[in-house]
Amino acid sequence: MAATGSAVGLGNIWKFPYIAGENGGGAFVLIYLVCIFLIGVPIMMAEVMLGRRGRRNPVDSMKHLAEETGHSPLWKFLGWIGVTAGFLILSYYSVIAGWAISYVFTTASGAFTGANAALVGNHFDELTQSPFTLIFWHSIFMLITMLVVARGIEGGIEKAVRFLIPSLFVLIIVMVFYAMTTSGFAEGVRFMFSSDFSKISTEGVLKAMGQAFFTLSIGMGAIMVYGAYLPKDISIAKASFSIAIADTAVAVLAGVAIFPIVFANGLEAGSGPGLIFVTLPLAFGNMAFGAFFGTLFFILLVFAAWSSSISLIEPAVAWVIENKGVSRVKASIALGFFTWFIGLGTVFSFNEWSNSTLFGKTFFDLLDYLTSNIMLPLGGVLMAIFAGWLMKKSASHDELAVSKRAYTLWRFLVRYVTPVAVLLVFLNAVGVFS
Ligand code: TRP
Repeated sequence: MAATGSAVGLGNIWKFPYIAGENGGGAFVLIYLVCIFLIGVPIMMAEVMLGRRGRRNPVDSMKHLAEETGHSPLWKFLGWIGVTAGFLILSYYSVIAGWAISYVFTTASGAFTGANAALVGNHFDELTQSPFTLIFWHSIFMLITMLVVARGIEGGIEKAVRFLIPSLFVLIIVMVFYAMTTSGFAEGVRFMFSSDFSKISTEGVLKAMGQAFFTLSIGMGAIMVYGAYLPKDISIAKASFSIAIADTAVAVLAGVAIFPIVFANGLEAGSGPGLIFVTLPLAFGNMAFGAFFGTLFFILLVFAAWSSSISLIEPAVAWVIENKGVSRVKASIALGFFTWFIGLGTVFSFNEWSNSTLFGKTFFDLLDYLTSNIMLPLGGVLMAIFAGWLMKKSASHDELAVSKRAYTLWRFLVRYVTPVAVLLVFLNAVGVFS
């Protein structure tokens, strides 16, 4: 449950539609789905397994597992990549979650009732042009995240998630129904599911793979930390599969709800990070009981973001507590403040610094690119290699406890398929094959 809460978040509802839109739709979606099931699920199984055997924060788990099997303690650097990726992701994730909090209030106020594309667009521009407002909501979100982390995570999250994810799901279905009534439904669905491979760049392929890691929360140790709490009698394979299915369903349905609105209103599918914030308010502004559904939707989105955020920072907090001998509260305050500070770079990426780019990317774009497309796949593959090549066969067989056939398939996937696939996608992205 907690891992599902980690997986389902802004990645599904905010990020997936906007990068699918930027990368031409169908072909991107197909590559994404292949990556989820061929690379993502086997790596998730490996990561949960390493966590359940390591039973520590990611850095010390990797060190411990490496030493236990007679390998170099330098494997702890894999934990470091993860801990670093986690708080870098949280630094911008919190800013976007802040947008969602502000939309709770705007939607509740009725400001979007009867709105057209121009009004909604203006509202979004006004919000993102104001660093002060963005910092305010970013601070609120970091505060509510760190409050929970400071108190220790177990318990509460699972209860919240049990109610949260199904509710979010129902609301997305309501939005899909609304999308069906718009003139853009057929075109939106075609955009999502007809794969025209000429529309996707080599970098688009890398982004589809990066998104698969991001959306499943794998490759940085978040799932490893939750694996450490997983009872021995729970099937890792079943849990990983059901997380991947729930996560994919939310993302795909979010796309089906959003793209029809894009086409019905003559908006741009590739308009970037603002996509859901300029489409969904149109739906809520024009459907029956829209202010109610809209407010509820943004509240649930904030909660979904919150249950994801906790898993982004928990590995770092756990490391500090276990190694620096400071209390959970102090560790949370220090790391929360640091993450908040880095988040300011993302705040300014949408206004003051929007023209300061490197390789055509703003600070936010660079941070996202580095973490999602490079650090997570790298971290994930190293976990796969560790689980597939370094761990004793008897150990992984014992942990996974699946049929002989399923085990052989998993081992083949983590040993050969995932490292080769990730390597090919990396090489492809730097232009080796073109
Ligand atoms: N998966 C979450 C989402 O889609 C984000 C997230 C939470 C994450 N924990 C993570 C991404 C760990 C990568 C690694 O919103």
